[in-house]
Amino acid sequence: MGLLHIFIQIAIALLVFTHTMSCTQASTQTNNGTVMKCIAHELSALLTFSAGLSDPANLLSSWEGGNCCQWKGVQCSNTTVHVVKLDLQGPDCDNSDASMQVLGGKISSSLIGLQHLQYLDLSCNRFNNETIPEFLGSLHGLRYLDLSLSSFVGRIPPQLGNLSNLRYLNLDSVFGDTHSMDITWLSRLSSLQHLDMSWVNLSTITNWVSAVNKLPSLVSLDLSFCHFSTSPDSLLHSNLTSLESLRIEANNFHKRIAPNWFWDLPSLKQLDVSSSQLHGPFPNELGNMTSLVHLDLSENNLVGMLPSNLKNLCNLEDLYLFENNINGSITEFFNRLPSCSWNKFKTLFLPLSNLTGSLPAKLEPFRNLTWLDLGDNKLTGPVPLWVGKLTNLAELDLSSNNLDGALHEGHLSGLVNLERLSLADNSIAIRVNSTWVPLFNLTVLELGSCLLGPKFPTWLRWQTNIYNLDISNTSISDMVPDWFWTMASSVDYLNMRTNQISGFLSPKIELMRASAMDLSSNQFSGPIPKLPINLTDLDLSRNNLYGPLPLDFGAPRLGTLFLYDNLISGTIPSSLCKLRLLRFLDLSGNKLTGTLPDCQDYESTTNMTGLNIRNLSLRNNNLSGEFPLFLQYCQQLIFLDLSDNQFFGTLDSWIGNKLPSLAFMRLRHNKFCGHIPLGLTNLINLQYLDLAYNNLSGIIPKSIVNWKGMALRDEQDDRYDDPMSSGFSFGLNEMMDYNDNVTVVTKGQEQLYTGEIVYMVNLDLSCNDLTGEIPAEISTLVALNNLNLSWNAFSGKIPEKIGDLVQVESLDLSHNELSGEIPTSLSALTYLSHLNLSYNNLSGKIPSGNQLQVLDDQASIYVGNPGLCGPPLTKKCPEINLTPAAPEDHKDGSDKIFLFLGMSSGFVMGLWSVSCIFLLKTK
Ligand SMILES: *[C@@H]1O[C@H](CO)[C@@H](O)[C@H](O)[C@H]1NC(C)=O
Ligand SMILES: *[C@@H]1O[C@H](CO)[C@@H](O)[C@H](O)[C@H]1NC(C)=O
Ligand SMILES: *[C@@H]1O[C@H](CO)[C@@H](O)[C@H](O)[C@H]1NC(C)=O
Ligand SMILES: *[C@@H]1O[C@H](CO)[C@@H](O)[C@H](O)[C@H]1NC(C)=O
Ligand SMILES: *[C@@H]1O[C@H](CO)[C@@H](O)[C@H](O)[C@H]1NC(C)=O
Ligand SMILES: *[C@@H]1O[C@H](CO)[C@@H](O)[C@H](O)[C@H]1NC(C)=O
Ligand SMILES: *[C@@H]1O[C@H](CO)[C@@H](O)[C@H](O)[C@H]1NC(C)=O
Repeated sequence: MGLLHIFIQIAIALLVFTHTMSCTQASTQTNNGTVMKCIAHELSALLTFSAGLSDPANLLSSWEGGNCCQWKGVQCSNTTVHVVKLDLQGPDCDNSDASMQVLGGKISSSLIGLQHLQYLDLSCNRFNNETIPEFLGSLHGLRYLDLSLSSFVGRIPPQLGNLSNLRYLNLDSVFGDTHSMDITWLSRLSSLQHLDMSWVNLSTITNWVSAVNKLPSLVSLDLSFCHFSTSPDSLLHSNLTSLESLRIEANNFHKRIAPNWFWDLPSLKQLDVSSSQLHGPFPNELGNMTSLVHLDLSENNLVGMLPSNLKNLCNLEDLYLFENNINGSITEFFNRLPSCSWNKFKTLFLPLSNLTGSLPAKLEPFRNLTWLDLGDNKLTGPVPLWVGKLTNLAELDLSSNNLDGALHEGHLSGLVNLERLSLADNSIAIRVNSTWVPLFNLTVLELGSCLLGPKFPTWLRWQTNIYNLDISNTSISDMVPDWFWTMASSVDYLNMRTNQISGFLSPKIELMRASAMDLSSNQFSGPIPKLPINLTDLDLSRNNLYGPLPLDFGAPRLGTLFLYDNLISGTIPSSLCKLRLLRFLDLSGNKLTGTLPDCQDYESTTNMTGLNIRNLSLRNNNLSGEFPLFLQYCQQLIFLDLSDNQFFGTLDSWIGNKLPSLAFMRLRHNKFCGHIPLGLTNLINLQYLDLAYNNLSGIIPKSIVNWKGMALRDEQDDRYDDPMSSGFSFGLNEMMDYNDNVTVVTKGQEQLYTGEIVYMVNLDLSCNDLTGEIPAEISTLVALNNLNLSWNAFSGKIPEKIGDLVQVESLDLSHNELSGEIPTSLSALTYLSHLNLSYNNLSGKIPSGNQLQVLDDQASIYVGNPGLCGPPLTKKCPEINLTPAAPEDHKDGSDKIFLFLGMSSGFVMGLWSVSCIFLLKTK
């Protein structure tokens, strides 16, 4: 007995030992009964296969040694030892990130050696530019083949039709570019149960339904995004008796939704015909689909109300109707849903469906509903109380409707499983008792533009799990309670903009995990605390923050920093140079003083090349010093605004060489002096240059012809990323809207534009001491909308071809020493709405015609030029061959002004007149 006992123990120990050996040292040949040895020719097939692959992440590190049955992803038969399964699915299938470390390279035909293979999964890898190999059709034993999401290109080989044992075939090509002109080969896969060919371009195939109708075992079929254009009305004989799930999203059938073959599929449980551009009302045939569980008809431009006889759809669980035009009342819609299934519905996904009317006050609740999305419809009235009985509800989205009324405890207390609540963009008031403690623990709470205030909502205190919080524009007029910053420590995206929230920013902010915070347009005061370490985007603009900028922001990954329109004082610390990822920096409208850091220390002590700033605005502070040297390290700079400061000194030529991307430069109202450097004309992308109100002297260089940004007339091109596009939204949570912080001076007025500056082409050199002639080359800058050279000492004639500037809306050459006649080409400027030639030495007859006739305040355009004559001035010209202006011109002109008013450019936020005199120009 004892001996046997010991023997058994040894045997167990050996087993454990060999097992451990085989796991940790698969490379050694533990060629022992308990561990299988793989078959030699299959081993060499696998080795050849792996040699053809690229494997940067070393995913196949276990593929060495002779026992391939032990390799990761390889499985051999317990009885025959043949390789039966090869599972090389890439890691992280949900991640479409191109830098993903996956397999690539070539798929060697040596795989044919694995004749006993039943299962092959190469999905979620990156076989860029590889076609799906034809020889896969020779692996006759295959039951499972997954080549999805692996970036294959080219033709789907019809040889796959030889795989008559296939049960599962997935060719989803969302990351690739595959096509097929003929899918009749599918009909030979008579055992196929699951077929996914979504994103394969099958646009030439018209008989695709009869091809899949040859697959009697089919349970699920996904042919979304296949560019189909046909869908037959019916199938005379349907083989698809087992089909439970049909997805044919985003095709292009261009027909009414009924009749359609898929309504005849008796076993269908899931149907998704999204984006198929079907037209017409819902078919009565829906009534036959007694076992339908999932119905997805999203994005189809379907028009009309559900049919009234859906009584048989008693198993329906999920209904997706995203982006259709139901264009009828929500009450009727609910009533037409089969009442026998009300208790089974899990999903009602109906955003963007043109649903109207108020939610029915009384309704047998959809007790099993976990997801109710009625966002982006035209719903009105209050939220009914029955919503509060949906105890399984995990997500409730009623956002972007016209709902009003109040939501109180009765609506919310029963929602114990609620995780996501979106009521944003309604006029809903949340009126709960200040002592109410919700039973749900939300992850997403979007209440933007609802009514929460004036008191800070106390029930938020218990929501400790939120990562996306939007309480922007909710009429809160209160201090932030201290618990809020603790509660908000879980929040990733925090949006509180546009309230009246006051008080200091808590030091607890540092402990938040936030990556984006928008607290702009409130009344926060006090200094800026240390920021959360993961913060990438911060908007604190339009508050009453004061004190200096922090020496250490504490957020090394900051990409957006908006602090404009506060009361921040002191100098700009050199720690800003450390923020290597900073792209948008706006400190305008503060009380900053002193010179800017030169960042030279940081430049020499780090290996990193330069700063990433694209958009820098320091406008309207008290900053001084010469043109900032640290800008040399900002090769990405597109937008630079230093206007309304005390900067002085000359503009150096390096600006033109070190800032190759610069498209917008505003140095207005500083004390820059010296010449316009020739180097500045190397800025070929420059489309907006404002040097007004400085002490610049000398001439305008002829090389301004290089400013291609002012010469290209393309509306929008790809020369640069939109420097105003810093905003982003996370779900409905729209944060960092930056478009409204730019003033533009044009037509003699300063205007606050909303984002329009991107489309403005502007050259403003007014109020300087520039001399010489206006170079004829100026007429090559044909994209200019605004040209202002007023209040300088330009002499000579107005360039003859000034009329080439056909886009000009505002032209100001006043207060110079220009002489000679006004070029007649001026009358060709059909967009012109503001012209000022006053106070020069111009002479001769004022040209007539076209736009010149309809400008306002005609006389003041020409005042102060004693030599001018003719209308609109009262002074008559000497009678030499006077040709009277054609009367049609007037008619023409009045049409034009109508046209012009119709196309007002930019949304004017504020409007005030400016002139050199008022701004105390020192000449
Ligand atoms: C397995 O190998 C070990 C030593 O390598 C040997 O002691 C043992 O008897 C072998 N077992 C079988 C079943 O061959
Ligand atoms: C082989 O045997 C192992 C262990 O007994 C078992 O887990 C596995 O499912 C078997 N594989 C096959 C293909 O039968
Ligand atoms: C992809 O393949 C095509 C033809 O097979 C070839 O012309 C092209 O250069 C390849 N592209 C890449 C990126 O390998
Ligand atoms: C039904 O499937 C069988 C087997 O694939 C096929 O022979 C038959 O033609 C199919 N019927 C239709 C109407 O396509
Ligand atoms: C659908 O129902 C109608 C009437 O109940 C019936 O005549 C028709 O045969 C049914 N169609 C299918 C495919 O079952
Ligand atoms: C909703 O209706 C309006 C007109 O009533 C229409 O312009 C719009 O396209 C419809 N929306 C959808 C998603 O069909
Ligand atoms: C509600 O959902 C649960 C779980 O998903 C399910 O077990 C139950 O059968 C459903 N109720 C009805 C009436 O379908």
